[in-house]
Amino acid sequence: MKTEVIFSPAGFAPLPGQDLSATVCVVFDVLRATSTITTALANGANAIIPVATIPEAVDLRTRQPQILLAGERMGIRISAELTGGVEFDLGNSPREFTPETVGGRTIAITTTNGTVALRACAKARTTFAASFLNLEATAAAVLELAPERLLIVCSGTLEDAAYEDTLGAGALVHLLPDAMLADSALIARNLYRLEQSDITSALGSSRNGRRLRANPTLVGDLAWCAQVNLFPVTSILGIDGRITKGPGSV
Ligand code: MLT
Repeated sequence: MKTEVIFSPAGFAPLPGQDLSATVCVVFDVLRATSTITTALANGANAIIPVATIPEAVDLRTRQPQILLAGERMGIRISAELTGGVEFDLGNSPREFTPETVGGRTIAITTTNGTVALRACAKARTTFAASFLNLEATAAAVLELAPERLLIVCSGTLEDAAYEDTLGAGALVHLLPDAMLADSALIARNLYRLEQSDITSALGSSRNGRRLRANPTLVGDLAWCAQVNLFPVTSILGIDGRITKGPGSV
């Protein structure tokens, strides 16, 4: 299994034009999109539909009025001012996605980077949404698939690489003993090994982490997203564009 890491949006932008039929993609947006998606599925959401833009999400709601709308811009829940009148039900804080709120529901979500990265990987053999919350379950599912090529995609922060996603990527590489590691995977794995004793502080030192720390409503997301293996759940993006619980989920 040749294992590579893409660190930033410039790296994943060309993926839709590439043949990914023998590639398994694992997308990380630790702060916070893939942590939120994992939490939603673990708390009983039926499916999550990741979309790149606000109009796509609003259009889905028009066609399926029962779905919940979730997402952020600049880290804050999308409001009617941004959509031309539609108020989103949820932001992108995983702590909002409780069993009471999301149980049995389908949720369309759009975020600045995470859902864009997921959409970029849509034609891969299999695409997982991963986070520290479901690291071991994801690693086990990847090992079971034993793909020719594993591409770990870090969603990044705006145009840049994100420290927390690189750590997530490295934590996954750390769990894949048989992988043939590209230098990008070695970089991520070795960084994770330096930081593994205190993931919460490491996340808090990142650009996204500092933004969350400055917001009293969102600061709790840091400790939430730093929980390792909280959920025995894999999150898989299907060819129908919906993320649902995948193999190995309990
Ligand atoms: C993103 O997709 O860029 C993030 O998850 C941003 C955030 O939640 O603040």
